[in-house]
Amino acid sequence: MTQVGRTPRNPAATPAWRNLKNHHKKIAGVHMVDLFAADPERPARFASEIDGLFVDYSKHRATEETFSLLLALAGEMDIPHAIQQLFDGERVNNTEKRPALHTALRTPPDKAVLPGSRHYTAQVSSELSRMEEFIGELHAGAVAGWTGHPVETLVNIGIGGSDLGPRLATDALRPYRRSALRIRFAANVDPVEINSVLADCNPETTLFIVSSKSFATAETLANAQRAQHWLRNNGCSNVPAQFIAITANPEAAVKFGLAPERIFHIWDWVGGRYSVWSATGLPMAASVGMENFRAFLAGAHAMDMHFRTAPLPRNLPVLLALLDIWYINFFHCESLAVIPYAHALRLLPQYLGQLCMESNGKSIRRDNGAVRYPTAAIVWGGEGTNAQHAFMQLLHQGTHLVPVDFLAGLECDDGLREQHNLLLANCIAQSKALMLGNGNGPDAEKRKYRIISGNKPSTTILYERLTPETLGKLLALYEHRTYVQACLWNINAFDQWGVELGKSLASGIHTELNGGTTNPAHDASTRNLIRRCSGKV
Ligand code: F6P
Repeated sequence: MTQVGRTPRNPAATPAWRNLKNHHKKIAGVHMVDLFAADPERPARFASEIDGLFVDYSKHRATEETFSLLLALAGEMDIPHAIQQLFDGERVNNTEKRPALHTALRTPPDKAVLPGSRHYTAQVSSELSRMEEFIGELHAGAVAGWTGHPVETLVNIGIGGSDLGPRLATDALRPYRRSALRIRFAANVDPVEINSVLADCNPETTLFIVSSKSFATAETLANAQRAQHWLRNNGCSNVPAQFIAITANPEAAVKFGLAPERIFHIWDWVGGRYSVWSATGLPMAASVGMENFRAFLAGAHAMDMHFRTAPLPRNLPVLLALLDIWYINFFHCESLAVIPYAHALRLLPQYLGQLCMESNGKSIRRDNGAVRYPTAAIVWGGEGTNAQHAFMQLLHQGTHLVPVDFLAGLECDDGLREQHNLLLANCIAQSKALMLGNGNGPDAEKRKYRIISGNKPSTTILYERLTPETLGKLLALYEHRTYVQACLWNINAFDQWGVELGKSLASGIHTELNGGTTNPAHDASTRNLIRRCSGKV
């Protein structure tokens, strides 16, 4: 994406930003209780329902005026144009000179609108068909290991975007399982993880998926090698037959010893953390079947259509991103807690950690200028109600202001309505407690430690049931929210140069640890740690 002439480079220098700063001075001391008292229509005014997702954003320290000033900022940063650029396949990833076309992965071929999009949709359809065929064979027991026994276990070896998305989706959609295949994941280079997965597998009936966009990630290659050795040690006579690969670098996969016909393709125009919609999602598709995988894509596409077409004041990803900016840049909040009241979504905080922080943890603007305002929040959280008995004390009485996203499903799958109601009751109670606090009782002065001041913001997202479509919509909502944040900050959401330095340093230190040497050029602390790890101290 070339810098758009009419878009300011520095959002903090815009009139909208200045107006927001002044407005913040007025709002900072206002309690939400008073906002609700002054406006009985508030819950309806600050809520949207999109295709079965109900989003209540009324419990925020924001008024109509706040939203109109935030929307003015969105206008000044030309968000409508930025949205168009994303869908049009412009090079929004400016440092790597690539589009970020995760939306093309879920666009039905007949709905492709982007100029020249046939090129993308043809590739996407062809890989989806290959996946469909392969998964059909897996489910039919027609994919066999070297002894002729059908595959029973899939082990996904990948890390970051090649792990978190498929791991989350496979876990979240367990009620939609369509096969008895066991799906396991190994990400960490700590050998304990792959070894504990292997200990639970039968070498004759285990198929490994090496999932790596680059096919150059040290952790993934080390774990894949470990799996190769394990197979050989167990007498496997055809190691390549026990593997498939998912990558944008098929040459490297072949060099690694994998069979070309067993490689599923992804492309450099899809970011790793945006790739669950592609063959990267194969573990989940193998678990829930292609029909459900396509429903997952359809849910995301529905959110794409909303994002592309809804006017900004009703555009959910835009509104949520604007609230993020409001808290991060004006209230100086440093984190966002994501608390799904749904065991099925227990991995969501980790998934969003990568999506939001790897995308927007940046301090250089797209035009190379230094960012002089905070960018991505630290995204963290955990499932409710467990969170209430762990970290939520800090949200209620700590010194940090932490906006919260609550998520909950209305329907319960296992017929335990009353127990499910207990879950929902806790979710609602938490958002209420955060907002209202407990006021000042008569003996408040004596028992200050009991005071909960309230005025803590939260968004509540309710869905009927966590279907594949719903999960698709939710994840696409967060993807677009992340993109809008980036555009408001004028940063690139699609590169991750910050992770490269650690990778190359680790490679040098690995050589030293293996060789028992220490490079004298290291700083003193690093030398010391290397010596300790090599048993020399
Ligand atoms: O190191 C960061 C990262 O590049 C992520 O962006 C990516 O999802 C992960 O590593 C894994 O990369 P790959 O799929 O190329 O192995």
